[in-house]
Amino acid sequence: MTGLRITFADDEVIEFNAVMGASVLESAEQSGYALAQNCRSGICRTCVAQRPDGSRTFLCQERAEPGFMARVPYARADLVPATMRKARINGFALVSPSVWQLRYRLQFPLAFLPGQYVELSLPGIEGSRRFSMANAPGDAEHILYIRDIPQGAVPAYLRERAKVNDLFSLRGPLGVFYLRRSARPKLFIAGGTGLAPILAMLRELGRRDISEPLALVFGVTNAADVFALDEIRALAQKLPLEVVLVAVTADAAWSGREGTVVDAMPDLRSFTIDAGIEAYICGPPGMVAAARSLLESNGADPAHIFNEEFIENPHPVPA
Ligand SMILES: Cc1cc2nc3c(=O)[nH]c(=O)nc-3n(C[C@H](O)[C@H](O)[C@H](O)COP(=O)(O)OP(=O)(O)OC[C@H]3O[C@@H](n4cnc5c(N)ncnc54)[C@H](O)[C@@H]3O)c2cc1C
Ligand code: FES
Repeated sequence: MTGLRITFADDEVIEFNAVMGASVLESAEQSGYALAQNCRSGICRTCVAQRPDGSRTFLCQERAEPGFMARVPYARADLVPATMRKARINGFALVSPSVWQLRYRLQFPLAFLPGQYVELSLPGIEGSRRFSMANAPGDAEHILYIRDIPQGAVPAYLRERAKVNDLFSLRGPLGVFYLRRSARPKLFIAGGTGLAPILAMLRELGRRDISEPLALVFGVTNAADVFALDEIRALAQKLPLEVVLVAVTADAAWSGREGTVVDAMPDLRSFTIDAGIEAYICGPPGMVAAARSLLESNGADPAHIFNEEFIENPHPVPA
């Protein structure tokens, strides 16, 4: 094969020629094919693809060579171009000692798949920041859960200057961590605010007539960091959902497990990890890697494990 070949999750295939000195991503674009991308510098991981030998590569970094083949983990039809929107704040509050909830309304609706994220440009903050919608698509109000990082520009804005009705802009939808249309049993593993996109997925499932078993393992550092418990309980009433809560550091009131999400995964009672499941993992990179490796060593199929790593803001702030 002299061209390059990309296969999508729905088995659609595109073939195109290598552009000299360009990446696979740029070569596809030169031939008029869109692929998932964002930072274009090897940081955000949106463009991840799997080579035939199972190894992973970032298509924005992979030099285009004739004969290159890879599989991307999303359907071609699910690629929606990102657009800009204006939004106004409806409300914001600390919902645990370490997590803010920000609610806003959009001037015009934004179609997205549950699990996707937006880039926010907030007043007085240089550069954009990425946050995942926790609401289901179609909701008039969008909800974000934002980790209260002490030096974070967004938490400082929420603590010091934000007001209801503040106007800001956002760009989205972005990312390919989204709920797949399948009837496979689904395991959701969330660390801290990594719960946000998983809540969007569970809320979407709550609107469907489903019978496949679901399980959520939600881990936090300190027991007091846990948030959105009422929503989780309401979803567990509506869905065939087993929930395991786990905190690295428990307190006297904690009724969940003590440890990490990886320690807690064997505690699942109604959910069996095997080659037939689909798994969604979101949180800090170390947690995502450890959970993924445990799933794979228990027989889960890597092609049906999807993850999003909450890395720090990948865009350098302009000088
Ligand atoms: C696809 C995607 C989706 C995301 N969704 C969410 C979400 O829903 N909720 C959420 O809370 N976060 C999410 N994140 C992470 C979030 O975008 C970053 O943490 C962002 O930088 C936070 O902005 P900030 O203004 O709080 O901190 P910034 O002003 O960007 O950073 C301040 C300092 O804090 C440190 N820092 C920032 N973020 C991190 C981090 N994640 N890990 C370690 N150190 C860090 C850095 O040293 C940085 O210099 C997501 C990231 C990605 C890539
Ligand atoms: S677009 Fe390739 S890593 Fe971000």
